[in-house]
Amino acid sequence: MAVEDPAETRPAAGSYAELYARSVEDPEQFWLEAAHAVDWDITPQRALDESRAPLYRWFPDGRLNLCHNALDRHVAAGRGDQTALIYDSAVAGGGAGQGSSTQESFTYRRLRDEVARTAGMLSALGVKAGDRVILYLPMIPQAPIAMLACARLGAVHSVVFGGFAAAELASRIDDAAPDVVLTASGGIEPSRRVEYLPTVAEAVRLAEHHVSHVVVSHREGFAHSRAEAAAGSAAQWHDWEAALADAEPAAPVSVAATDPLYVLYTSGTTGRPKGVVRDQGGTAVALSWSLPAIFDVGPGDTILTASDVGWVVGHSYIVYAPLLAGATTVLYEGKPVGTPDAGAFWRLVQDHRITTLFTAPTALRAIRKADPQAERVGDYDLSSLRYLFAAGERLDPETQRWIGEALKVPVIDNWWQTETGWPIAANPAGVELLPIREGSATLPAAGYRVEVLDPFGEPLPAGQEGNLVIRLPMPPGTLTTLWGDDQRYIDSYLTAFPGCYTTGDSGYIDQDGYVFVMGRTDDVINVAGHRLSTGEIEAAVAAHPAVAECAVIGLADELKGQRPSGYVVLKAGAQIGEEQLREELTAQVRSTIGPVADFKDVAVVGALPKTRSGKILRKTMRQIADGEDYRVPSTIEDPRVIEELMPVLRRAAG
Ligand code: COA
Ligand code: AMP
Repeated sequence: MAVEDPAETRPAAGSYAELYARSVEDPEQFWLEAAHAVDWDITPQRALDESRAPLYRWFPDGRLNLCHNALDRHVAAGRGDQTALIYDSAVAGGGAGQGSSTQESFTYRRLRDEVARTAGMLSALGVKAGDRVILYLPMIPQAPIAMLACARLGAVHSVVFGGFAAAELASRIDDAAPDVVLTASGGIEPSRRVEYLPTVAEAVRLAEHHVSHVVVSHREGFAHSRAEAAAGSAAQWHDWEAALADAEPAAPVSVAATDPLYVLYTSGTTGRPKGVVRDQGGTAVALSWSLPAIFDVGPGDTILTASDVGWVVGHSYIVYAPLLAGATTVLYEGKPVGTPDAGAFWRLVQDHRITTLFTAPTALRAIRKADPQAERVGDYDLSSLRYLFAAGERLDPETQRWIGEALKVPVIDNWWQTETGWPIAANPAGVELLPIREGSATLPAAGYRVEVLDPFGEPLPAGQEGNLVIRLPMPPGTLTTLWGDDQRYIDSYLTAFPGCYTTGDSGYIDQDGYVFVMGRTDDVINVAGHRLSTGEIEAAVAAHPAVAECAVIGLADELKGQRPSGYVVLKAGAQIGEEQLREELTAQVRSTIGPVADFKDVAVVGALPKTRSGKILRKTMRQIADGEDYRVPSTIEDPRVIEELMPVLRRAAG
């Protein structure tokens, strides 16, 4: 393989307008040029394959290995001693609240060697290219190592966030059908240890698909042992560290650019999560392009993406993009506040000379709540910091202003989704830092043709809010399909507005092309930057024996952006007090979806407002609660129901 230094492939600073125009007028040429940043086994001669439109494939004749691009290539280029990854845990070793942190650095050489041996361990368990491996791991080095080990073998990883419960893990096992599940003793939340092994054992038991092997990385301080979890389980349970000691390093396997790299499940409108599929070549090119062009990060820079590897932001900007670019990435196990205080991020910036910080608006709001005068900022040397990026939910102008004044660096909102894998709209800081407009994610990124359509698919004029769509084809690195279900992909995203991908977001574009994202058009809610389906929460609530029917809506929340709020109609004759019901429903949602759903609000009501065809008027309920303008549809079955509900909704909103 030819070894090219990614430092040479940074886009030249210049006019973003010119660059964007090229990306949409001649995508073939634009992305073939961008593909030079990747080290290919077989260099693609074509960028886009439209033969199965509306399903598109990128770089159909290219072959590569992503792990080689992220690790081996940098070692071969002489940067083996540069730091690739810094693990910093504010909670391991009893650190929570005490201000100490556990830190461990991995050079590119060390990371390559550990990944190669982990790939060897997987290979010894029979994992080969195309096989799926589920990762249920906390924010420890084993998580990125396992992801890269899968990529090394061409195996398809599916990371499941540790805040999800056994039933969620089981449904992903059934959909992805892995032979191997990789996990650890547990995760550490500031207030408690989260024992993973009972959850994994339960999920393996619940799943219809048979898992052959569970590999457990041992962490000190957890109550449940591997032997206990293995007792009575149909899977074989292995000790990660022992298996690794016996493993031979595995070499990178060459795969087609169009092969799947990973499946990441995300919430949709229905209860069944969607398995977003990301390919190998498109991902390599898009992330190699976006990290320098949007985030202005290259070799020698250090990025802290304070998210979780269980989310798309973690996949793209904790693991793959920084390593593809030859930069240093910080894997932070801890919270923005409480571990030990609201200076947690600033301590990290100082300790690791971080140049770029990327987090969710919720985290910034939590910091502001704990330290309104931003006094902690003054306790640290933040001179290395150049930018703060925020994504995952709407960045409200007040928070943007507050943090910008405190840090005195540009605060850059960027809009994207699990499905797109990298920003749809952003300020392209690495090419040209454009004037920031509060409340806007700035301009569409290269290759994204973003439009605002009315419900009939007609384009809306500048400034008018409607459905945000992306005209097909989308650029490389975006989803290629839903796992095992092309038709569901087409039905869910490509049918409502022919020729376009439906983002599910509502917003507008101003006269200068700035994109403003205002909220979802469907039943997806965003709680503390975590995407959840109200339909899924409703299914968990409806399973309670006293519940006849229910509606769950997302209400505005000062800290978390939104919070789920449930309205329950009891079965005739049900004998249960409201407080007891609330406790039982909270526990039920926690045990079926997970603590991350943060479901605590429950109100018992006489009836739910519905249309004559039986559709619950969730949007109207939410608008009333949030004090927005609302219109009761003429198709309402009984207008008195909404009248009766008004005081309850207004009380719920506080
Ligand atoms: N494993 C297990 N449980 C988890 C978890 C994980 N990885 N992450 C969160 N939880 C639990 C929490 O412990 C909490 O449980 P509790 O009800 O027993 O207290 C519950 O899920 C809700 O957690 P969270 O929404 O994180 O609320 P919080 O009050 O603990 O913290 C913030 C509030 C703002 C500090 C936190 O939500 C945060 O850091 N948000 C940013 C999220 C983010 O970066 N998202 C990435 C999207 S790009
Ligand atoms: P997820 O797939 O979990 O990343 O969630 C994606 C959803 O989060 C998007 O569809 C939006 O609703 C919301 N979102 C993400 N980033 C932004 C942003 N910068 N502004 C507004 N909403 C955002």
